[in-house]
Amino acid sequence: MSQTKPNLETKRHAAPHSSGGAATRALILGGTGEARRFAARIAGDPRIDAIISLAGRTSEPLEQSLPARVGGFGGVQGLIHYLEDERIDKVVDATHPFAARMSSNARQACAALNIPLIALSRAPWSPLDDDRWIDAADNAAAVAALGAAPRRVFLTTGRLGLADFLLTPQHFYLIRTIDRPPPADLPPHHELILDRGPFTVESELSLMRDAHIDVIVSKNSGGGATYAKIAAARELRIEVVMIAPPRREDVETVHDIEQALAFLLERRAA
Ligand SMILES: NC(=O)c1ccc[n+]([C@@H]2O[C@H](COP(=O)([O-])OP(=O)(O)OC[C@H]3O[C@@H](n4cnc5c(N)ncnc54)[C@H](OP(=O)(O)O)[C@@H]3O)[C@@H](O)[C@H]2O)c1
Repeated sequence: MSQTKPNLETKRHAAPHSSGGAATRALILGGTGEARRFAARIAGDPRIDAIISLAGRTSEPLEQSLPARVGGFGGVQGLIHYLEDERIDKVVDATHPFAARMSSNARQACAALNIPLIALSRAPWSPLDDDRWIDAADNAAAVAALGAAPRRVFLTTGRLGLADFLLTPQHFYLIRTIDRPPPADLPPHHELILDRGPFTVESELSLMRDAHIDVIVSKNSGGGATYAKIAAARELRIEVVMIAPPRREDVETVHDIEQALAFLLERRAA
């Protein structure tokens, strides 16, 4: 178990708040399909009293099955205050694999308060035989992997971090995001598609064929929701610059919502 950071103001709990027959107070850190499915799974369960937290990044967030709070907590210290004020017993970090800051904050705040924490996340994708992946550690490596010669790039890494691709303005970028990015972040040669998906392999194939795409840049986000473009790239035999997820810190991770549910119910059964 991680130690309390010395510079954090904390009130340490001897044990999680859970007591007797009361429902487990759970905080679900969301913003993903997994978090929504998990929320739907536990909504209405009398053994669990849960709230889902969203960063508030998308202008029209999807409806949630649980009561939702929206917006940052104010760093580790803000999260510590929130966990205490709301008397949270357990936290499920179901944020996106690339939401590294929130995951790190959750790890530190839960460690400081001795609150059990689990990560619910998708397993990353692995290349199949016909895939032509170029591994990239981050956006900077992905930019470099595109090379000097102009290419037609399908850029699917999301709204944040688009500005990194301003360094290589020689390429044409087909950019797909949920919300409109700031104009200053958009490279000179681009076409913008605002869409949330889910997408089918057929629709991805025709999109890429019509735009004469010869390389995709993608985060290795795992899961099924955005995999169609990867399957389409395989069919078209085009390269995918695949950005690896940041390494998660030392937190138990499950890929299945039933395991996350078991985690929330653990102490009651004990
Ligand atoms: N990164 C991606 O590729 C990606 C893709 C799809 C969905 N998402 C979702 O979008 C959200 C933001 O992603 P990000 O990459 O900007 O995260 P991040 O860099 O890890 O987080 C930045 C800050 O946003 C706030 N935040 C993030 N997730 C939050 C949540 N669930 N509830 C309340 N505050 C949250 C926190 O602010 P404070 O420090 O003030 O608490 C956090 O420090 C996440 O919830 C994630 O699940 C991200």
